[in-house]
Amino acid sequence: MAKKKMTLPDFKRYKEEGRIFSYVTAYDYTMASIVNESDVEVILVGDSLGMIMLGYDETVGVTMDDMIHHIKPVVKGAPDTFVAGDMPFGSYEIGIEKAVENAIRIYKEGGCDCVKLEGGEEFAETIEAIIKAGVPVMGHIGLTPQTAGSLGGFKVQGGTTEGARKLIEDARRIEEAGAFSLVVECVPSGVAKALKDAVSIPILGIGAGPHVDCQVLVTQDLLGMYGDFKPKFVKQYANIRGQMVEALNQFREESISGEFPSDEYSFNMRVEGFEIE
Ligand code: KIV
Repeated sequence: MAKKKMTLPDFKRYKEEGRIFSYVTAYDYTMASIVNESDVEVILVGDSLGMIMLGYDETVGVTMDDMIHHIKPVVKGAPDTFVAGDMPFGSYEIGIEKAVENAIRIYKEGGCDCVKLEGGEEFAETIEAIIKAGVPVMGHIGLTPQTAGSLGGFKVQGGTTEGARKLIEDARRIEEAGAFSLVVECVPSGVAKALKDAVSIPILGIGAGPHVDCQVLVTQDLLGMYGDFKPKFVKQYANIRGQMVEALNQFREESISGEFPSDEYSFNMRVEGFEIE
């Protein structure tokens, strides 16, 4: 059956029907077209592109222009897949007007289906204003990589009763503000389940255990492309990096031995005066 792009109402409907869906990252046309060919329903052009595409140590340095530059080819490569575009650090914290302006830029210039922004109830008014301006918003709580420093590093969040209650408050406020879905990153499974039960919008879990409405992973992590760093919550479904290195080495060896290019890969028409002895 041909893939049909998820719509905003589908997010809530899937949750009501208990239909689990999946969500992965893409940052370029080729990867987007591969995800589009798969049955995965949602793509995130995440600011994790800072590490994965640009080689940064963290996401903080990613700019609005970086995001738009990467969202555009993903949208082009994945016409049948819902695409979310991340709002980078510094693009929505200064003031509501600036946040609305930048959300509109990402949505309009990038061409994606929604924006995603990190933060709890302190951003509820910002989320409300962006939605009022006509841009759908996906929230993101738990471990929020842009502000990981102030959370004590890349650590599980909501690991105390107080912390878990705060996450539930955040989720309720974000739903009330009008967000259509909510990423929950790195929280204990029981807390993620409580979050799922507390709101009627789908909980998109990454490192949040099995009791959520949708599972999220970074594509390069799940395909085994990125390198040696592998968070506990990542399952590697392939070792594409190993296969790529092997293929590159084979190409090099065959170039040296002359096995490549054989007749199959060469243009062998005869040109007078240019015969090969
Ligand atoms: O930028 C990103 O890849 C993300 C995911 C971790 C959800 O925000």
